[in-house]
Amino acid sequence: MTQPRVLLIVSGGIAAYKSLELVRLLRKRGIAVRAVLTAAAEKFVTPLSLGVLTEDHVYGDMFDLKEEREIGHIQLSRQADLVVVAPATADILAKMAAGIADDLATTLLLATDKPVLAVPAMNVRMWHHAATQRNLAQLREDGVHIMEPDSGEMACGEYGRGRLPEPEQIAAEIARLIALPSPTDPLTGQPDFEGPELPLTGRHVLITAGPTHEPIDPVRYIANRSSGKQGFAIAAAAARAGARVTLVAGPVNLPTPQGVERMNVETAREMMAAVEAALPADAAIMVAAVADWRTADAAGQKIKKDGSGKPAPLSLVENPDILATLGKHRQRPTLLVGFAAETEKVADHARAKLAKKSADWIVANDVSGAPGASVMGGDANSVHIVTADGIESWENLPKDVVATRLIEKVAHALSARPD
Ligand code: CTP
Repeated sequence: MTQPRVLLIVSGGIAAYKSLELVRLLRKRGIAVRAVLTAAAEKFVTPLSLGVLTEDHVYGDMFDLKEEREIGHIQLSRQADLVVVAPATADILAKMAAGIADDLATTLLLATDKPVLAVPAMNVRMWHHAATQRNLAQLREDGVHIMEPDSGEMACGEYGRGRLPEPEQIAAEIARLIALPSPTDPLTGQPDFEGPELPLTGRHVLITAGPTHEPIDPVRYIANRSSGKQGFAIAAAAARAGARVTLVAGPVNLPTPQGVERMNVETAREMMAAVEAALPADAAIMVAAVADWRTADAAGQKIKKDGSGKPAPLSLVENPDILATLGKHRQRPTLLVGFAAETEKVADHARAKLAKKSADWIVANDVSGAPGASVMGGDANSVHIVTADGIESWENLPKDVVATRLIEKVAHALSARPD
């Protein structure tokens, strides 16, 4: 994996000094940082100190012709995996919302095709001002990730919401957005998030992943092309978000994500039993490609050719539907999410599945395409999330980005529902 890169735009507020600590924490996590200072920010932190910490050139003036010749602003805005504005003043948020590009920082923000995280910090009255709140609503609608400021005593002596979150918390949010595993303590191997509460702290998330193998005899089985990658990525993302995660995995050759409790199973019936044993759960995300059928009676010995030229008859019976069973379960998880692999009429079939299985959401994958070139086994995914409220489509994203976004959505949904 190439080193993840963040373009950090520091705008001018008293909290700008915390950007130095933020850079240090990001570098500790293995993230490269390139910094851009607004003119006002240069009054609070010097390009020299940021340059020392980023070990890179610090950019400031769009009209520095040498810089513009060597690295155009469009290029600068696209070399990063994530653009972060921290601290984001009321002024830069207003410019972002309006699409104003009157210096290097705002020009980069308008030119970028990368996700943007804004971390506001300002006086409490400025934060609550209708103009700021209107701008924030606009930015959220535009897809900008916004971190909520902390409450507390401010540099200006007033008290209330508007403080920059702690750098550790910002670093954790950045790592989450670029889907990085959390750093680990080299001795215990455990995640060492120091920061405040993560979005799924205290929640239990139950995930199934991979195919199931239904034995025909001791050496043969019925299976499918599921690699388990998407389910494992979701389990990893849920753990990073602070959840207790139980991953019921069919036979796949994947490492257990950090902080995840894994139960290995072979067949659909074993998967069903493991899932029921893991209840109760706040959210269950059923990603496994469970075999719909199993042989009525697996042979105890290898089935031999009998010389007649005719294959031995295979009689199949239906497996339990794990998702549908949870949908009607007395311990039904608060949020129940199913996946659907479809080759045609993706949205229609997903809507039907939502009702049939009493799920809250169906994440529909389009698996049309040649075997091997399709979603199954590949690293990217295009999904459509079908809920009672409508459809949301996420096109051609890496599976770990789908995972992070889905977990964000799960955290949001759970926070809106009672325990
Ligand atoms: N699923 C399950 N148990 C089964 C079959 C499916 O839990 N025995 C879950 C899958 O994990 C997935 C969802 O149901 O979340 C949809 O699975 P899919 O195989 O696409 O749907 P089916 O109900 O089997 O419908 P069809 O084969 O007709 O598309």
